[in-house]
Amino acid sequence: MSILDQTPPDVDKLEQLVFRAVEEVGATLNAALVVMGDRLGLYRALAGAGPLTSSELAARTGTAERYVREWLNAQAAGGLVTYHPSERAYSLPPEHAVAFCDEDSPAYLPGLFENALGSVLDSPRITDAARTGAGVGWHEHNQHVHDGCERFFRPGYNANLVAAWLPALDGVVDKLQRGARVADVGCGHGASTILMARAFPRSTFVGSDYHTGSIETARQRAEQAGLDNRVRFEVEPAAAYTGDGYQLVTMFDCLHDMGDPVGAARHVLGTLAPDGTWMIVEPAAGDRVEDNFNPIGRAYYGFSTLLCTPASLSQDVGLALGAQAGEARLREVVTTAGFARFRRAAETPFNFVLEARP
Ligand SMILES: C[S@@+](CC[C@H](N)C(=O)[O-])C[C@H]1O[C@@H](n2cnc3c(N)ncnc32)[C@H](O)[C@@H]1O
Repeated sequence: MSILDQTPPDVDKLEQLVFRAVEEVGATLNAALVVMGDRLGLYRALAGAGPLTSSELAARTGTAERYVREWLNAQAAGGLVTYHPSERAYSLPPEHAVAFCDEDSPAYLPGLFENALGSVLDSPRITDAARTGAGVGWHEHNQHVHDGCERFFRPGYNANLVAAWLPALDGVVDKLQRGARVADVGCGHGASTILMARAFPRSTFVGSDYHTGSIETARQRAEQAGLDNRVRFEVEPAAAYTGDGYQLVTMFDCLHDMGDPVGAARHVLGTLAPDGTWMIVEPAAGDRVEDNFNPIGRAYYGFSTLLCTPASLSQDVGLALGAQAGEARLREVVTTAGFARFRRAAETPFNFVLEARP
């Protein structure tokens, strides 16, 4: 007996599903199209230019008109670009210009799409790994994953880290202003480290990450930022980074990627000053899976399946917290490691800022 014999489908519901699937496929392809528009400078050339024909946009960007026309139609059909039929021209609304062109705006979007594209490109490896439970390490991913991650997170850090997150921690800003020693663990390309170093010139910062390629990029970023020797970057795993007596240890969106977050937490406890603070920035999530059945939860469970869970499974212990672990599970990790105090100090729609103290 087939499933059709058992459960006759509701034809209207089936039709709705098919139409929804068309929208989903359009959105999937748009990850590549947004990265294409970003790379070719199409959004930047459209921003503030008024309506442009595909030929004018191609001429301004040094690209081939036939590709540009098709790209523009895909963007217009998706509502990201406005079409002006009488002129056969296209424009970018001002809000869209901010979201697609202003790297400093918290609404900046290309990084999120680039991270999604990178995740999809590597998905055949994840499909294979899911048969056996093997991991796929952060270091094994294509460059879109690393660059997309930096470009997605940095605008949020620019908007929140110095203005809201650090001030939400007990006494930390005073220490940073007087001059403190800070370890930024799992720092990736070092966006958070460099931002803090700029804001607190009397403090010193060590960014570390187990991924050599990320640390090489972080060193370049620090050089470009003209930061002196108050900032250095080291290739080190979270469970064994060097130094002690830190007034502040930070982890931005990386604790759940680690194989042994409890082991890493124990190491943080051992390297903190007695009155030090561990700031943990993690994706915001409810404690029950059903709390996260919303657009943000959907995207994060997607990233978690393709990036975070395989990353953790590739390391010793392989706890695989996932990117939607929730505060209760994170509290358990932190207190199991021996921290006495734990609280949610701040939050945004995307992040929890958690404060752990000895
Ligand atoms: C999602 S990225 C976040 C990077 C950076 N903190 C940021 O906010 O842009 C996760 C980072 O955790 C790092 N990571 C994963 N496991 C690690 C470990 N055991 N020790 C140190 N870094 C680790 C990865 O290499 C990657 O750079």
